[in-house]
Amino acid sequence: MSINTLITTIRAQEILDSRGNPTLTVTIGLGGGIEASASVPSGASTGANEAVELRDGDPARYGGKGVLKAIKAVEGVIADAVRGLDALDQEGLDRRLIDLDGTPNKERLGGNAILGVSMAAARASALARDLPLHAAIGGQGATLLPMPCMNVLNGGKHADSGLDFQEFMIAPVGAPSFVEAMRYGAETYAALRTLLHRDGLSTAVGDEGGFAPALKSNEAACDYIVAAIEAAGYKPGRDIAIALDPAASSFGADGAYKLELGGAREIDRAGLLAIFGRWIDTYPIVSIEDGFAEDDWQGFIDQTAAQGDRIQIVGDDITVTNPIFIREAIDRKAMNAVLIKLNQIGTVTETVEAVNLCHQAGWNVMVSHRSGETVDSFIADFAVAIGAGQIKSGAPCRGERLAKYNRLMEIERALGDKALFANPFTKRAQSEALS
Ligand code: PGA
Ligand code: ZN
Repeated sequence: MSINTLITTIRAQEILDSRGNPTLTVTIGLGGGIEASASVPSGASTGANEAVELRDGDPARYGGKGVLKAIKAVEGVIADAVRGLDALDQEGLDRRLIDLDGTPNKERLGGNAILGVSMAAARASALARDLPLHAAIGGQGATLLPMPCMNVLNGGKHADSGLDFQEFMIAPVGAPSFVEAMRYGAETYAALRTLLHRDGLSTAVGDEGGFAPALKSNEAACDYIVAAIEAAGYKPGRDIAIALDPAASSFGADGAYKLELGGAREIDRAGLLAIFGRWIDTYPIVSIEDGFAEDDWQGFIDQTAAQGDRIQIVGDDITVTNPIFIREAIDRKAMNAVLIKLNQIGTVTETVEAVNLCHQAGWNVMVSHRSGETVDSFIADFAVAIGAGQIKSGAPCRGERLAKYNRLMEIERALGDKALFANPFTKRAQSEALS
């Protein structure tokens, strides 16, 4: 007799994320007795078109950041609408949630409330079928482990380091497996700590677990990473490459940018593009995400035309995991890869739709955590389920970051011989030239 998979109970609770801000965890119960929970992350450098995070705005609680309204939505109007639905029908459930909200950006019920329900249902459905989450979402053929892009130096809105660019990541492109990639990354991270300490710089970490030293220039971040890769015994470019997320929306708009570190200066779109060009010539860079601000479509288009055959150009704030913006980006040749964050769009189904669009266009995708995280490892399974090929979950440091990486190591080990792992940047001339 098959188990009853109809949704019977939905509860939500206020918990705290890795920055100490409130977020919610949702628990769904099925008729057959299965229960599953999921917790929702929260960004700091958010795109304007992301699904709205419903927050209470009550200054007496958490500076207005409480999520009691979102919890009320989950346990009230959402529970009433989805009770009795089959958790196995993820798409049906998600469509119900989207219709119930009725707004393009989920501002009525909250993207946070809706996503918590969508993810908890996915987990309950996997449990009911006795499948690991990645196989439940992606099928038994989903066996590709993602390249981990580890954010080892934090700047921008994620730290007080003074670095203009938000994320300096290392990608162990020469590693033979995910488990080995984590070893390459953790050893390089340790070497970086030693180098910073030697030079009297801070080894305290930022929101995503990367170090946040007060360096003299943005370039110095890349210099330190290259030195750390070598100190750990690896070859820059061949074994470990660099991926950047400048998160340019936080230092520019309308094609005008302001860099502060090493002397305040204003640069235009072409000036910023030239900086990236010089960096690509100098450092083993394989990917740049949000090199331009979310409203600077021309910046993305120019960069893709000029540098898109050498590196991966990733959209994040500009595309916000939304099929509408991704379609526009494909039409305008504005990038060649897209960052995928479930909470930017708000349901599992729409996120899968966004990924499918990218894959149809022949574009890469990188699944991403948020700077405010919980120990929920949903995105680890999700990355395998969709065959993302890449994930970023911060440095190999801080429990909420390692929860994802450790889950991926567990998945790789459980898959055994079936597990696949590949360098997603091999198409790019840059990685060839540097190997
Ligand atoms: P966020 O940053 O989670 O603070 O938005 C991540 C990113 O910009 O990729
Ligand atoms: Zn980003």
